[in-house]
Amino acid sequence: MTDSKTNAHTVLIDELNQLLADSFALYLKTKNFHWHVRGPQFRDLHLLFDEQATEIFALTDLIAERVRKNGAPTLTSIGAIAGRAAIKDQDASDLSAEAMVKELVADNTTYIAQLRATKEAAGNAGDNATDGVIDDWTDQAQQRVWFLSSVIG
Ligand SMILES: [Fe+2]
Repeated sequence: MTDSKTNAHTVLIDELNQLLADSFALYLKTKNFHWHVRGPQFRDLHLLFDEQATEIFALTDLIAERVRKNGAPTLTSIGAIAGRAAIKDQDASDLSAEAMVKELVADNTTYIAQLRATKEAAGNAGDNATDGVIDDWTDQAQQRVWFLSSVIG
């Protein structure tokens, strides 16, 4: 590989591994809110958060395997996730339902930005499979933002 090709490949691997870390962070936060949500919207939000967590978790294997198909190592542990995720932990278990929804809107918006950065890196590296599949993942994330935003009106 030429230097610029090697560099584009390295950037792509970094972006995919960050996307994977953010997927795990967003999965666990969404599940955390599924477990801890309270209030008059309990049933709707408990179910919505669970649906979204399931959708996010399903992406983790696909993302990690894109890294492996590109010949590089992917994440190995909770520590590796924590070292890379841009999406921050939320350890308060007593947030209001509205605060939970707002935080997930912000985090899913961060996630969409990471999808965009990863797609750009895939284009630069000539990884057409990653480039193409990210469009579906982006549509899913935009749907999560839409559903969450619609809860708070
Ligand atoms: Fe559950």
